[in-house]
Amino acid sequence: MTAHLKFDKPDARNRLDDMAQGVIGAPLDRSEGALKVTGRAVYAAEQARSLHGAAHAAPAYGVLVRATIPKGRVLSLGREAVLAMPGVRAVLADACFLRNPAQGTAGKAPVQGPEEVAYYGQPIALVVADSFEQARDGAQRLVVRYAEEAGALDPEAVTPELPEKKQSAQGDLDRAMREAAFSIDVSYTTPSMAAAAMEPHCVIASWTGDELLCHGSYQMPNYNAPELADSLGIPAEKVRIVSPYVGGGFGSKLGIGPEAVAAAFAARELGCTVSVALSRPQEFETITRRSETRQRVRLAADAEGRLTGLGHEALVSNLPGESFSEPVAQATHFTYAAAHRQIVHRIARVNLTPAGSVRAPGEAVGVLVFEAAMDELAEAAGIDPVELRLRNIPEADPETGKPFSSNMLAEALRDGAQRFGWQARQPAGTRREGEWLVGMGMASAVRVNMLGEAKARVTLSPEGTALVETNMTDIGTGTYTILTQIAAELLGLPMQAVTTHLGDSALPDGPGSGGSWGAASTGSAVALACEAIRARIAGLMGCDEEELTLKDGRAICGNVTRPLPELLTEALQEEGHLEPGEAEEAVRNATFGAHFAEVAVNAVTGEVRLRRMEGTFACGRILNAKTARSQCLGGMTFGIGMALMEEMIHDARDGHIVNHDLAEYHVPTNADVPQLEVHFLDERDAYGGTLQAKGIGELGICGAGGAIVNAIYNACGVRVRDMPVTLDKVLEGLIAQSID
Ligand code: MOS
Repeated sequence: MTAHLKFDKPDARNRLDDMAQGVIGAPLDRSEGALKVTGRAVYAAEQARSLHGAAHAAPAYGVLVRATIPKGRVLSLGREAVLAMPGVRAVLADACFLRNPAQGTAGKAPVQGPEEVAYYGQPIALVVADSFEQARDGAQRLVVRYAEEAGALDPEAVTPELPEKKQSAQGDLDRAMREAAFSIDVSYTTPSMAAAAMEPHCVIASWTGDELLCHGSYQMPNYNAPELADSLGIPAEKVRIVSPYVGGGFGSKLGIGPEAVAAAFAARELGCTVSVALSRPQEFETITRRSETRQRVRLAADAEGRLTGLGHEALVSNLPGESFSEPVAQATHFTYAAAHRQIVHRIARVNLTPAGSVRAPGEAVGVLVFEAAMDELAEAAGIDPVELRLRNIPEADPETGKPFSSNMLAEALRDGAQRFGWQARQPAGTRREGEWLVGMGMASAVRVNMLGEAKARVTLSPEGTALVETNMTDIGTGTYTILTQIAAELLGLPMQAVTTHLGDSALPDGPGSGGSWGAASTGSAVALACEAIRARIAGLMGCDEEELTLKDGRAICGNVTRPLPELLTEALQEEGHLEPGEAEEAVRNATFGAHFAEVAVNAVTGEVRLRRMEGTFACGRILNAKTARSQCLGGMTFGIGMALMEEMIHDARDGHIVNHDLAEYHVPTNADVPQLEVHFLDERDAYGGTLQAKGIGELGICGAGGAIVNAIYNACGVRVRDMPVTLDKVLEGLIAQSID
């Protein structure tokens, strides 16, 4: 049976609050945590060992060959010399190979045809050998002849496109700027960034007849299976993708990657299992990056600091033909009120690594910059930065007039300020401890929230254990744990009586992990299935579902209590199906929060050390206080990276990535991350599916870097508008100050 809900109306029943098991919201450890920390969780690349024991032939290993020009055509591959090398079985290139990885939720083949080169690092061929080392050697020695063309490598040097759907304007911003009591007009830049997931992409492909099985590391098997099938020209039902554990994705594993198509093609050609894993440099070169941005922010305010006008213009880049375009101003549409508004979005077509979704696409860089600009306005107007934000929170979406599904930005700002001790903040450049200048900064956190279509199957056995199944993934976020909690709560079972299976495209379609929508969407599907099972149990008990209490494996109705094994004669199986509907269109749905940071800036070297950080977030119902907190800790840590160190550098001559490994592409390490505090506001959002929950994976990122950048200004009076704020840029400002 299917319990289908088209989400046309908000759901304010708050059913989980009526339950008795008491596990929902609890800070429970991850259910798969022990497997991961003891090495028993088998990741994609490790399947080579477990799948192919003594009875099976060892897999062949494929290594991708990457283009070494930014634009042109492949004329020839020096196959013979490589085929003569020891262990090499094949040098393959086929029109089905991917030129670009698929974008998130594409569900169809991305740009193919590797003989045409669109960026340096693009996969063009696959060398397959008996061992990984032999394949890598062959790939490195393959001589490729190209007809090279001039590529566009500088986003600033080409005439950008202005996609119509991404422009918006109300009123007359220019006039608002002219008539403002206080105004600022500033430009910021943010560099390209890498997702830098810990586990590299890997696929092990094998065929049984015309059926393809791929063990891979992907965020969205429900979309990835049809993407892979479409790339190979076979029906989607012939492809099964299995991704039970994903060692981080951050957007880089949303869409099918070149490793999957190459491995599947090679396995078919050679009639054996083929494993293709990306090296760390390939993780940078052949997988989507976050676009660099140039952003101009204009703010006009009256004498009390009420915004009369705001403008946000962005220039981003991507390859020709790619539809994704970093949605920089996504949150600007609704974060603050102002009658006169203008949003401009430009995209430059360049021959650089494909751009795509990376960790809170849009807001990660858009909110960072907009909140830094708000700090500049606060300084110009002489208004406390928290107060400035409080004065500009809109009653409803300022562009459409739609109400917010819920908006606790004001509460988050007040809560965070109080917990952080914001009142102790001093004027810029006035607090010094030895050679360290100390400052505080803050920023609002905002991220759009959405639901995705989700299905999940729940089976309650007559023994009183339950199985939850969906092809949703757990990319380190805690999906296994929260889905288990939801089923345990609604079915009144202890956690250990519930098993959750994820990440297999053969299971009912979840929406995948992306856009922070996994928990609320898949969780709703699980809840719908559980409610249907509850109704059947109520029927057996002879009472209404609302009167039924399920706790510790017992059904309770009035003064009748019966253990489930006594009550059930057969398994009860239901499928929950949540389909987004009109409820989504009726409101502006977003998550909100506030970041506070304290930094010390070395007055001699310009070095910035983050001292402490506090985030308060409102994300609807919190399903697990521990995994939710971990999500925000991770998000805030990304903010540290964006503010202080992350920067992908393309060589201006050919577009190759200069710093394509984690030794030179810097992300925060333990020593860079001080004490982070996370606090959640109690919230139920009736528009957040049947759980009243909202997305949490990305909110912690949004604005986090802004709070740090603003703290640097407060510490030393230097405003760096070119991310990341490295010591050379701070030092330049400190020197300029001392000359003034
Ligand atoms: Mo996210 S960047 O949608 O994985």
